[in-house]
Amino acid sequence: MKQSKIKKLVTSIFLKYGLSKTAANISSDALINAELVGAYGHGLSRLRMYCNRIEKRLINPKPKIKIKNISQSITHIDANDSIGFVAADLGIKKAIKNAKRTGIGMVAISNSGHYGLSGYYAEQAVKKNLIAMIYTNAPPAIAPHGSIKSLFGTNPICFGSPTGSKIPFILDTSISMINRGKVRFAEKNNKKIPPGVALDKFGKPTTDAKKALKGVQLPIAGFRGSGLAWMVDILSGVFTGSSHAGKVKDPFEDFSRPQNVGHLFITFKTNLFVNNYKHRIKDNIRIIKGLPKIKGVKEIMYPGQNKYKRFKMNSKKNIKISKIIKRDLEALKNYAI
Ligand SMILES: NC(=O)c1ccc[n+]([C@@H]2O[C@H](COP(=O)([O-])OP(=O)(O)OC[C@H]3O[C@@H](n4cnc5c(N)ncnc54)[C@H](O)[C@@H]3O)[C@@H](O)[C@H]2O)c1
Repeated sequence: MKQSKIKKLVTSIFLKYGLSKTAANISSDALINAELVGAYGHGLSRLRMYCNRIEKRLINPKPKIKIKNISQSITHIDANDSIGFVAADLGIKKAIKNAKRTGIGMVAISNSGHYGLSGYYAEQAVKKNLIAMIYTNAPPAIAPHGSIKSLFGTNPICFGSPTGSKIPFILDTSISMINRGKVRFAEKNNKKIPPGVALDKFGKPTTDAKKALKGVQLPIAGFRGSGLAWMVDILSGVFTGSSHAGKVKDPFEDFSRPQNVGHLFITFKTNLFVNNYKHRIKDNIRIIKGLPKIKGVKEIMYPGQNKYKRFKMNSKKNIKISKIIKRDLEALKNYAI
């Protein structure tokens, strides 16, 4: 389907469900971007879930977002259960503004929801020539090292930097072996997940997405990944005033309360300590890319390069709509308040 057509359709669906025009636009842009970078688990496959939660007022369609400037650099946002995209859009814009003014910007957000891809927000800061570090927590998916009960989310860690070229450095990674969106996507499309990424509820390795969702996902690098997930939970949950320690609600399965996700955006100027960052990072990347390669590897890529390539390639094409998403779109389009 043509991108413009999808954009119009998804925006109109969000409007029907009661989002403001601005919120509907921000949210549809974020979903379409996820499709274009190939992060399908965070794209249109989530539209029905957002709409269900808005309908049940677990996402507040008309939030009264409170912005509290603690200093010229530091801001706290209470998102009042707004859709995560809107809270994050506000958060990154504020973090950019603060950093441009003082050198460093820090924005903590509480009472938010799932905001999609951290890299999407980091890119906005990098475009303004800033370094960005972004954290968000997510519902339980991973057992802390030594436990059999899932508690940490797939809690992505994101770091973005200008590179002196068109393609930004964006390390944006879940701390699970694969992100939960991929597991849900596999479940929805009757596909297997790779071996070694999840255990079923009895603690047995599984490639069945349904069983994995009922069991636990495995963290990257054992106890190290578990530690990173914990760090993200502290920064995005404990520090911001949002839910933490396994209390973030699962957007697909738990309709008892709003999600109460927390986000933390830290942005800073590249020239705080050196005045030739652009030259230095170009040099850094050139040296690393010039290293001898393993057989079969054509190019040593830096994080973000692959996503940028996918985005460039896909942005000229129509978006493929699976049967399931087509069905979702049809049902949501005909929703009457
Ligand atoms: N909002 C949430 O609750 C939530 C939770 C989990 C994940 N996510 C999002 O899901 C997205 C996907 O996460 P993921 O863990 O599947 O990412 P991924 O595994 O696709 O990529 C992780 C990182 O590795 C880099 N990379 C990939 N191949 C590379 C290569 N050959 N050489 C060098 N670098 C390479 C990528 O550019 C990326 O920065 C992220 O945008 C993340 O923010 C969101």
